[in-house]
Amino acid sequence: MVLNLGILISGNGSNMVNIAKHCKLKNINCNIKIVLSNKNCGGIKKAKKLNLKSMILEPNKFKNRESYENKVSTLLRDHNVNLVCLAGYMLKLGKKFVKKWEKKIINIHPSLLPAFKGINAQEQAYREGVIFTGCTVHFVDQYLDTGQIIDQRIVKIDRNKPLKDLVKKILNEEHKLYINVLKKLSKEN
Ligand code: GAR
Repeated sequence: MVLNLGILISGNGSNMVNIAKHCKLKNINCNIKIVLSNKNCGGIKKAKKLNLKSMILEPNKFKNRESYENKVSTLLRDHNVNLVCLAGYMLKLGKKFVKKWEKKIINIHPSLLPAFKGINAQEQAYREGVIFTGCTVHFVDQYLDTGQIIDQRIVKIDRNKPLKDLVKKILNEEHKLYINVLKKLSKEN
């Protein structure tokens, strides 16, 4: 089945750009229908450059978080989205939103979940002294970074190198992982 993606971002957007590249190359059976960001960020500028439909929706311009998420949901539905991809989206989604899109939201996280949930997961692993970390794509549930794991990739930590090298190495693996997961889900659906 063709996956109609709605991509939610908050930052650089490198995962989003990589997904767009693979859609264009027809390596994955997906179309990016809309890119939404909760703030002005590098990723939204990149989405515009790629001629992707994109919008910034700032939560503080809404009455409350629920009305913000209702607007996000309406936009996704209006654009025929059937899979919501979180790609560096740094806000936790509310229970009602998650219920509406049950098993239709996936997230990428820069650790081997269930280890190192939350922010700065790469740094948490680097400081903890573990030898391996990596990245995970999982379905999103109402809690933080706890939903069913779809796939992971492993990265070995080299402590002779600075943390920024690890972040880069994980991001590189994230790009491959996200594409593999989208391939898998488009075959299953
Ligand atoms: C990625 O490393 C992603 O795993 C992380 O933010 C970065 C976004 O990069 N997400 C989280 O930490 C979510 N908890 P990108 O904007 O270049 O794709």
